[in-house]
Amino acid sequence: MSADAEIKAGFFDSGVGGLSILRAVKALCPDNPVEYLADTANAPYGNRPPEGVVRLSEANARELISRGCEVIVVACNTATAAAIDHLRKWRPDVPFVGVEPAVKPAALRSKTGVVGVLATAGTLHGRLFNETKARFAKDVTVVAAVADEFVEEAEKLAGASPDEALPSERERIHSVVKAKIEPLLNAGADVIVLGCTHFPLLMPVIAEVCGERAEVIDPSEAVARRVKNVIEDVKRRKRK
Ligand code: DGL
Repeated sequence: MSADAEIKAGFFDSGVGGLSILRAVKALCPDNPVEYLADTANAPYGNRPPEGVVRLSEANARELISRGCEVIVVACNTATAAAIDHLRKWRPDVPFVGVEPAVKPAALRSKTGVVGVLATAGTLHGRLFNETKARFAKDVTVVAAVADEFVEEAEKLAGASPDEALPSERERIHSVVKAKIEPLLNAGADVIVLGCTHFPLLMPVIAEVCGERAEVIDPSEAVARRVKNVIEDVKRRKRK
């Protein structure tokens, strides 16, 4: 293999959610080769027992590695919560990048001292989220909500923006989003963390519902920067 060969990055999620991360990576490194695996046969992951998510995550990573991917992006908060430790032990030779709710930046940005987190049950009940919360959000109140409905809406849109939907459909999505976010805003949250990769796909509606009342934190760009660094590290290692 030539010293400057491309490093293919493989992304997986239960469905279209991981596209939010893939798009951010493509914006940063447009020419880097990628593979995307949407495990729609087993979606959604959000309410599966963690052992099941570990098994599916390993199968997804195995498939991407067999297609030549040298960096694996676990583009799903639920899979990261359940399986990232397992994956790193299973293939210590492969770099895995995960996604977790951005509680730390949210706690730093909140002025009211109340942070809202939207995620799946699997993420909110996982060790990773609870450790991060205990470590970085001890001075704020975290109000969390399971928002499986957002996963369903994002899947129905198949990766398109709600702005591309028919007006009546967009209005319906707006009501679904409002019903979930309004209680967090009413509890005083001035920062809303999108803790599931499907949620940024509904961003125009989420931002509209939050309006001036709360800032929305989408971790996609931060994760993309991490992916870019990891790809560059692998390239550097190969050059040696
Ligand atoms: N996109 C996924 C996440 O980030 C999970 C959605 C699901 O399958 O429930 O958690």
